[in-house]
Amino acid sequence: MNLVVVGTQWGDEGKGKVVDLLSEGADYVVRYQGGHNAGHTIVIGGKPIVLHLIPTGLLQGKIGVIGNGVVINPKALLEEITLLTQRNFEVTDRLFISEAAHLIMPYHQAIDKASERMKGSQKIGTTGRGIGPAYADKMSRSGIRIADLYDPEHFREKLEVNLVDINAILEKIYKMPPFDPEAIFKEYLGYAEQMKPYITDTSLFLNKAIDEGHHLLFEGAQGTHLDVDFGTYPFVTSSNSVAGGAATGTGVGPTRLDKVLGVTKAYTTRVGSGPFPSELCGEMGEMLRKLGNEFGATTGRPRRCGWFDAVLVRYSVRVNHLSSLAITKLDVLDGMPEIQICVAYEVDGIRLDEVPSSLRRLEGVTPILKRFEGWDESTNGITDYDKLPKNAKIYLEAIEALVGCPADIISTSSKRGETIVLRQPFDSN
Ligand code: IMP
Repeated sequence: MNLVVVGTQWGDEGKGKVVDLLSEGADYVVRYQGGHNAGHTIVIGGKPIVLHLIPTGLLQGKIGVIGNGVVINPKALLEEITLLTQRNFEVTDRLFISEAAHLIMPYHQAIDKASERMKGSQKIGTTGRGIGPAYADKMSRSGIRIADLYDPEHFREKLEVNLVDINAILEKIYKMPPFDPEAIFKEYLGYAEQMKPYITDTSLFLNKAIDEGHHLLFEGAQGTHLDVDFGTYPFVTSSNSVAGGAATGTGVGPTRLDKVLGVTKAYTTRVGSGPFPSELCGEMGEMLRKLGNEFGATTGRPRRCGWFDAVLVRYSVRVNHLSSLAITKLDVLDGMPEIQICVAYEVDGIRLDEVPSSLRRLEGVTPILKRFEGWDESTNGITDYDKLPKNAKIYLEAIEALVGCPADIISTSSKRGETIVLRQPFDSN
């Protein structure tokens, strides 16, 4: 049984906790896209650990795999390995990284930041980690892959060729100092040496694992509405965060992926720019941010907050063909006299039941909101569905009905054990 876990909103849905929980039933946990722009927070023994690149399954003693679809900043990767080692998590013989994964180079980060500065008010609000420029090089066929590091002459040649264009852009357009190929060459050969024990052909490795009957959990980063094809383009990340990305990002064929679990927050958040129809800009948004501690795990930026948007999540159910949902952070809504759900959009007096592809059109919509009575009781830490307040159940059932997908999991706190598991996604038929 192989399960893909994806975000159904704009990332930060709480995938870290859900993946950590599900890792128990998995043998391998696999990252397939994104890079260290992601931030998965897991609370263990009261202490949070934030992982950006390494699959969180490693914390459960599972095998962690970083597939070819991920872009890797070797410095960030090695820092994370050190952090895990310091916290007594075994990494040796547990972490495998694709030799075909592309590298994030120092110039990618410089270009990411400079291009955002140039865009001014049109900026994407990227994490500034060099993700977009690294994927752009991959697509334009000038990217440097991990395997290239182990052929130093070839690596040097690629680097020198790339820096001719890149340095010209940096100096002439962005008025920034150029990069010295020799310094990068030396720095990256140093990383290559340290990364060597982990590098392999991960497609071969994963397919063999499936042949042997192992269970794989694919851990999506970001969310469906940040996907480069299906998200609110251009306010997206530069990879395919949808379930389909799990196949291209690992070399495991799509017919080997059995189920897809969509993680969704009980309300909506977004970091960075771009349309957000159900956004709450006033006091209510501020309250959700405070109660939900909505600050980015990677950049610390305050997240924009709003009501649950059923139109967005229904779209995610479709493009990922979700088998079930995990609804997180229900407890954040405790004590609210009234909660609303965006059930459709309206533009120029016309009701829209689907997300429009045109960003301009999406920017112009007004949410059609449905009101629900809140609950006074605390849901924090509840592990039994029957113990939830009546109105919380009504709210959850409305979400399931509106998006057309059942919930297998409801999370009621950030702690590992404080979760309602209605069906084990790894077992359910
Ligand atoms: P990039 O991935 O750094 O290029 O940023 C592109 C957009 O994706 C920005 O709006 C970021 O805030 C957003 N983004 C990237 N990674 C994450 C994440 O892990 N959670 C939430 N938003 C993200």
